[in-house]
Amino acid sequence: MKTLIIYTTLTGHTKVLANAIKGKLEEVDINEVKINTRVSKYKLFRIFKIVFLDFILNKISYTHQKFDETEYDLIIIGFPIWRGEMPIFFKNILLQYNLSEKAVAFFCTHGSKEKSIHSQYLSYLKTNNLIATYCCQSPIKVNPPEEKERLRKFILQIESKMDNLFKYS
Ligand SMILES: Cc1cc2nc3c(=O)[nH]c(=O)nc-3n(C[C@H](O)[C@H](O)[C@H](O)COP(=O)(O)O)c2cc1C
Repeated sequence: MKTLIIYTTLTGHTKVLANAIKGKLEEVDINEVKINTRVSKYKLFRIFKIVFLDFILNKISYTHQKFDETEYDLIIIGFPIWRGEMPIFFKNILLQYNLSEKAVAFFCTHGSKEKSIHSQYLSYLKTNNLIATYCCQSPIKVNPPEEKERLRKFILQIESKMDNLFKYS
C-alpha cells in the first residue's frame, strides 16, 4: 500500500504531526506545500495578514510540488485551521486532483480547545471514501497519554480500513 501525506503549515505545528504520522506508517511519501508569504512573529499581525491574503485577496504565496494521485492507495491531508476552516489556497490545490474514488484521511491542528472534528472541512473535495480524521490543539502534545492514544486510534483506523479495502477489492 502506498500513501501520500500532503500538508501545509505556517508555524510548524502541522509539520510535527505530519512527521509523527509518517513515522507510524509504511511506504509513505510526504509532500509539504510550502507557504512563502512572510508573516510577523506577533500572533495578531500574523492572523490579520493571513486572513486578508487567503480569504479576501486569494494571494497566499506558496510552492507546491505536483504529484500523481493515481500512484497512491491512500492520501492523507493535513492542514492548520484558519478561521474555522481549511485554508482556501490549500483547498484550491487539492481541488486540482481527482480524489473522488481515493481513500482519504485528514488531520489538522488548531489553536482553540475545542475537540470536535469537522468533517465539513473536506466537503469541498468530493471524496467518497473518508476513512479517518484526527484534529488536535497546538502546540502538539503527542506526549500526554490521552493525545498519544487519540493519534494511535487514528493510525489504527487507517490501517484497519485499508486492510479491508485490499481484502475486498
Ligand atoms: C490566519 C489564522 C487563522 C486561524 N484561525 C483559527 C481558528 O479559527 N480556530 C482555531 O482553533 N485556531 C485558529 N488558528 C490557529 C491555528 O490553527 C493553529 O495555531 C495551528 O496549529 C497552526 O498550525 P501550523 O503551525 O501548522 O501553521 C488560526 C491561525 C491563523 C494564522
